[in-house]
Amino acid sequence: MAKIPTKPWGGRFSEPTNKFVERFSASVNFDHRLYAYDILGSTAHAEMLSKIGVLTDAECHVITDGLHTIREEIETGNFEWSIVLEDVHMNIEARLVELVGEPGKKLHTGRSRNDQIATDMRLWTRDQIDQIIAEQTVILGHLLGTAERHASTIMPGFTHLQVAQPITFGHHLLAWFEMLHRDRERFSECRHRVNVSPLGSAALAGTGFPIDREFTAKKLGFEGLAQNSLDAVSDRDFAIEFAAIASMTLLHLSRWCEELVAWNSPAFDFIELPDSFCTGSSIMPQKKNPDIPELVRGKTGRVIGNLSSLMVLMKSQPLAYNRDNQEDKEALFDTADTLRDCLFAMGEIIAAMSPRVDNMRAFAEKGFATATDLADYLVRKDVPFRDAHAIVGHVVAHASEKGLAIHEIELSHLQQFSKAIDADVFDSLTLEGSIAVRNHLGGTAPEAVMAAIKNAKKRL
Ligand code: ARG
Repeated sequence: MAKIPTKPWGGRFSEPTNKFVERFSASVNFDHRLYAYDILGSTAHAEMLSKIGVLTDAECHVITDGLHTIREEIETGNFEWSIVLEDVHMNIEARLVELVGEPGKKLHTGRSRNDQIATDMRLWTRDQIDQIIAEQTVILGHLLGTAERHASTIMPGFTHLQVAQPITFGHHLLAWFEMLHRDRERFSECRHRVNVSPLGSAALAGTGFPIDREFTAKKLGFEGLAQNSLDAVSDRDFAIEFAAIASMTLLHLSRWCEELVAWNSPAFDFIELPDSFCTGSSIMPQKKNPDIPELVRGKTGRVIGNLSSLMVLMKSQPLAYNRDNQEDKEALFDTADTLRDCLFAMGEIIAAMSPRVDNMRAFAEKGFATATDLADYLVRKDVPFRDAHAIVGHVVAHASEKGLAIHEIELSHLQQFSKAIDADVFDSLTLEGSIAVRNHLGGTAPEAVMAAIKNAKKRL
């Protein structure tokens, strides 16, 4: 008589699994997070088996009711996960057999844990993408709201972190909007490639049962079917793509955070962050530190690390499924968890930060921000741009030496640098004048910013 195996795969084994091996190979400590998707997949599979006559209707009901009970047990903390049963799939299946007996043993007909895990992971990732897109949309909305209120708030625009030209705060926020908008677009494109059903690929070669892959795919809300069973059970490119887009998104957020940290410092003093999103120092009583943007900046490194782990994990793997792939989960889970937290943090910060508009303006007045406007003025008076550039260079050197802003230099002095300069020059030297003329698509003029916001609202 055959012995009763403790493991669902134990039939051909004559000695028990080494305890170390049990611990080393178990994934249930982390893949239990997939339980809801595993149950959804098993339910769809059972219904399909009954449709093709492999299960009777009665068996199918017993199985799906059992799966429902297991779901409740898990959600009420009454389910005992065991590493002896390795992973989420075998834990649930063993409990099903315990609960419903013989029909439970038929559930695994025509499938394998290999197509099962690929299905669970794709369903999980699809859900994460939907949550991420919702978070991104919240932030995009906050950015537009703040940009609208500050469409004509003047601040310095920087290159090389040196004052370059005046811009509006609204324009700056719209730059952030564009970055995140592209990231959101990337996620929704990636969703199509994630949302494909591997179910029916079984271990690697498909199955001899007359399965209906369309049926399970439809039940699970997949848009299509994986076209090759070997590829479907083995490739994790969808997880890598997800992590790549998450990395790109965090990379963008880390840039914003770098600016927020700088703006929040006394050197800039452009914004005030809400107390509830700052922390103090254990020794310096005066401190209110921007730790949350700093952490978002820091967590970017961790997510890029996850991307790298996933790529190296996949590299050189022969077809088809290899156990290496079990290592994809923690990196993928951590990527999604970290990104969602960071998006939430950024949404809160952007909604609550208060800009110090006077300081922004004062800073813009300091760095000869309208020097390019003086050059452009000369060009309009028929001075070739290269000559105009050189003339203004001399003006700036003079102003710098005298400790003056360009518009504080007297007209007669300005005229010593170029005969083309007239009294109307001062219109070009104001911050308002400088931004107002940049009135074209993509430009910083308040009118252009308002038009960009109107257009962005349509893309929201
Ligand atoms: N826990 C496994 C994983 O995450 C499930 C698939 C196991 N398949 C196998 N043939 N051992 O990849």
